[in-house]
Amino acid sequence: MNCKKTIKQRKSAFAFTEDEIKYSEILDILDSARLAPSAKNRQPWKFYILEKEEKEKVLTWFLEELKQNNSEETGLATAKYIKDSQYLVLVFMEDTTDNIATNILSIGASIENALLTATEKGIGSLWIFDLCVISHKLTTYCNAPGKLISSVCFGIDKDPSKRVAKKKTLNEIILNLKN
Ligand SMILES: Cc1cc2nc3c(=O)[nH]c(=O)nc-3n(C[C@H](O)[C@H](O)[C@H](O)COP(=O)(O)O)c2cc1C
Repeated sequence: MNCKKTIKQRKSAFAFTEDEIKYSEILDILDSARLAPSAKNRQPWKFYILEKEEKEKVLTWFLEELKQNNSEETGLATAKYIKDSQYLVLVFMEDTTDNIATNILSIGASIENALLTATEKGIGSLWIFDLCVISHKLTTYCNAPGKLISSVCFGIDKDPSKRVAKKKTLNEIILNLKN
């Protein structure tokens, strides 16, 4: 599979089958994340892999937080995706005092590497920011250095060919496109 083909094939998974993914596959996906470019090669990422009871525990905290903040409308859908997926990978950022913008950009690159490798393996993924409302709790729970920046859930996509998101054209995004 070539790179552009994988990029085109990648889509967020909003429903998952019950098929199981081996832990070694998740490690291989994170091995791709590890190889991403990062500002000054700082590699500011740390990952924590959750499944089963641990994932349920995090989900309970998330639902409690949504209820307290009256933000169930936006968060409940995300909670369902996390529940139905098999793995939830939390992504933490080291060095939260300096270089914040470049560290966050670097982490974005590492997450995209992970998503593309998952796509090549036929594994569905969903990048999730909503969980950051419980960032403090998760940082403590995982004994992680720094701060929760994002998370990604993985599972087998129930609908791998159905793309929901419409993408902008080159005309819409290149400010000085030559005809
Ligand atoms: C930084 C970031 C945060 C996201 N957070 C969430 C989220 O919390 N919940 C969710 O359902 N999807 C989340 N998504 C997935 C987006 O909804 C999805 O990428 C977008 O709709 C485009 O669809 P595509 O991934 O299929 O191209 C997030 C994506 C990114 C890049």
